[in-house]
Amino acid sequence: MKIDQNAINTAVTLLTEGKLIALPTETVYGLGGDARNEVAIQKIFRVKNRPPTNPLIIHLSSISAIEAFASNIPPAAWVLARAFWPGPLTLILAKHYSVLPSVTAHQSSVAVRIPNHPVALAVLEAFGGGIAAPSANFSGAISPTCAEHVKAGLGSAVDYILDGGPCQIGIESTIVSLLEDFPVILRQGHISAKAIADVLGHSAVLEKSKMNIVVPGTGLKHYAPSKPLYLMTRHEIEEKLRLDDLNHHSKYAVLSYSFGDSTNSWIRLEANASAYAHALYAALHRLDRTDAQSILVETPPLNMSWLAVHDRLQRAAVL
Ligand code: TXA
Ligand code: MG
Repeated sequence: MKIDQNAINTAVTLLTEGKLIALPTETVYGLGGDARNEVAIQKIFRVKNRPPTNPLIIHLSSISAIEAFASNIPPAAWVLARAFWPGPLTLILAKHYSVLPSVTAHQSSVAVRIPNHPVALAVLEAFGGGIAAPSANFSGAISPTCAEHVKAGLGSAVDYILDGGPCQIGIESTIVSLLEDFPVILRQGHISAKAIADVLGHSAVLEKSKMNIVVPGTGLKHYAPSKPLYLMTRHEIEEKLRLDDLNHHSKYAVLSYSFGDSTNSWIRLEANASAYAHALYAALHRLDRTDAQSILVETPPLNMSWLAVHDRLQRAAVL
């Protein structure tokens, strides 16, 4: 990808002035502000309508920068950083005393990662400091996976949008806490518990998100479109559509992976977890803009590789 140096310079100037930029990462677009500037941090919470109890991830430009934001860094942090950064993995570590309390929601821990996107890396490098960046959507809504989604959502509340094309991974980073003696997965993502255990050379990786424990500050309903979303089997969807047909009006938009052909109100994604995750949020954004009353989503295969997708869909669904 060709980097537009003028765009990078503009973004860095704005960051230095305490303003907010939207920046592409490999997972989703982030709403970035200077992690050391209280005014910028307050703006992030205000613009997103984010509860102040939900801490932010600080994005870094180099592995060694961990030391500026974390303390008592365990060896596992360096091992994981070297194995997966830049990449879709966020580490939770004890925070450095200098980190603004608002960034960590007054917790004693801090979240850090290096994103794997040339535009994000160029901004981080030119800026030099940490960039606090939650996903660039209103709190609770679907995360943006292209610049268009940011424009349609937060819009002019963001001072500048860096367009880096569609996000490669499409769902948020895996979050692993290293605060205990063993790693704990707080949010599932593209990097699996197994991949983490393999790199660390032991199998003691606890998966909190599988035990229905929600990460602090994230309400249960999250990643949700504005229309109600229902998770159903293929059979249940076919049944609903059959009844709908009888009524001669179209109430439903459908997201499937095993049947049907894509149309305006129907999107069939690939039956492959990574490809599905990559396209998921864009599909939900699109179906949310149809005039259907609700979105029916075919429950994906119940299989380990689909864990991160299940996590997002369950939070988006009407329970
Ligand atoms: O892929 C990603 O991680 C994207 C891109 C932009 O980097 N960012 C992202 O940020 O998803 P956000 O704010 O939408 O989600 C961050 C999650 C929240 O659920 C928050 O509770 C958790 O990280 N988090 C942040 N700091 C934490 C901490 N100290 N302890 C536990 N969880 C933390
Ligand atoms: Mg988010």
